[in-house]
Amino acid sequence: MIKTLRFPLLTLLPFCFCCFPEITALKDGEDPTIKTMEDFSGYPIHEPHFPNAVSSLSVDIHSLQKQIDELSTFSDTPAPSVTRILYSDKDVLARRYIKNLMGLAGLTVREDSIGNIFGRWDGYEPELAAVSTGSHIDAIPYSGKYDGIVGVLGAIEAINVLKRSGFKPKRSLEVIMFTSEEPTRFGISCLGSRLMAGSEALEKALKKTVDNQNISFLDAARSAGYAKVEEDLSSVFLKKGSYSAFVELHIEQGPILEEEGISIGVVTAIAAPASIKVEFEGNGGHAGAVLMPNRHDAGLAAAELALAVEKHVLESQSIDTVGTVGILELHPGAINSIPSKSHLEIDTRDIDENRRNNVIEKILQSALAIAEKRGVKLSEFKMLNQDPPALSDESIINAVESASQYLNLGHKLMISRAYHDSLFMARISPMGMIFIPCYKGFSHKPEEFASKEDIANGVKVLALTVAKLSRY
Ligand SMILES: *[C@@H]1O[C@H](CO)[C@@H](O)[C@H](O)[C@H]1NC(C)=O
Ligand SMILES: [Zn+2]
Repeated sequence: MIKTLRFPLLTLLPFCFCCFPEITALKDGEDPTIKTMEDFSGYPIHEPHFPNAVSSLSVDIHSLQKQIDELSTFSDTPAPSVTRILYSDKDVLARRYIKNLMGLAGLTVREDSIGNIFGRWDGYEPELAAVSTGSHIDAIPYSGKYDGIVGVLGAIEAINVLKRSGFKPKRSLEVIMFTSEEPTRFGISCLGSRLMAGSEALEKALKKTVDNQNISFLDAARSAGYAKVEEDLSSVFLKKGSYSAFVELHIEQGPILEEEGISIGVVTAIAAPASIKVEFEGNGGHAGAVLMPNRHDAGLAAAELALAVEKHVLESQSIDTVGTVGILELHPGAINSIPSKSHLEIDTRDIDENRRNNVIEKILQSALAIAEKRGVKLSEFKMLNQDPPALSDESIINAVESASQYLNLGHKLMISRAYHDSLFMARISPMGMIFIPCYKGFSHKPEEFASKEDIANGVKVLALTVAKLSRY
């Protein structure tokens, strides 16, 4: 069997001459490792003697579901909701849980100075850049137990699946748990992956960042056992090329896969997010005493700007352009007081960066015009972040597609409109994402749900995908 497989494999991978000595060295053909590696080559369809590797891909979905349930109990709000905020006691316990599972899977565990966690399975050519996969476990207040979690626990299970099957990777495989994908505590989304991807602006900002209790990022990190010295932050940076590939398994967080009855979404691009903080300052005054012609109402300026955001987004005439005013606060916030200050936070996204930036420019022009018309001051118009979109790597798209085909799972190419750690990993590594369906597309709420079957399918596709990528 080894003989019949060897030739087509080498012709399909002509650039991979490094494989040759490995394979010929095992002429006796009894090494189950190499046999399984060939099973995982990703081109079994043309091979009549292809052994029954699908049955060797056994996902222990009962244990995985149990882990998902257990992890959800590390929460600051009662079940079924999950609230797990960066560096809180519950977050620290959840991290310990993840490290323990990584250890049980035989992975070598390392943490960087802000608590990104890495579990490595050394390949037989460990000097090559590793293939990595992972996601996050932090959860915004009153959210669910699948967002991010499926991509961390599922990645560890994918490693277990490969180990049970007898597979041995050529490149090392690494599971990553990213610190703080959600912006809950410090207002910075994808904090861990953003810093990993080498954001010097973020490194500087983190030294001054505080949460809403005025606890500094560094103090919070230290209380969780990280950031022991301030200078450590730049040690989180990874060089471009540290990984040969990064793949993230995630629930779709949208309704498409479920509605269409498709098991696997193959992400081709992640939309480009930007967020803006705006503040208006007016005069305020007594709600009865100040007559309408004499007002400079900062609240109405904010209301008008919120409507302008919607208008400018719709003007782009693309379904892919979206904009949201998710925060609108008035000061002093009393029924009998004209708002003297207002604060808005605007989120806008598109898969086309120029089109999105055009919307941002129009929002700025509207903010200036509204301030002038109402006699209020536009005291702040600050870009909190303005990230480019990311395209998935062709080779990873192909690997996910062929894994899905091989497993007979329906799949479709799609865009991720939510963003993920993958957006930032794309800056230092070829990137790809695997989506699985979730109930009605619900996410960031307790009703979030993905079925065991869909999770198991996602883990199998992930296992085959990283196995294939580890060979290149
Ligand atoms: C926040 O903490 C810093 C340093 O401890 C202190 O100087 C500052 O006054 C505090 N700010 C507020 C709003 O409490
Ligand atoms: Zn997520």
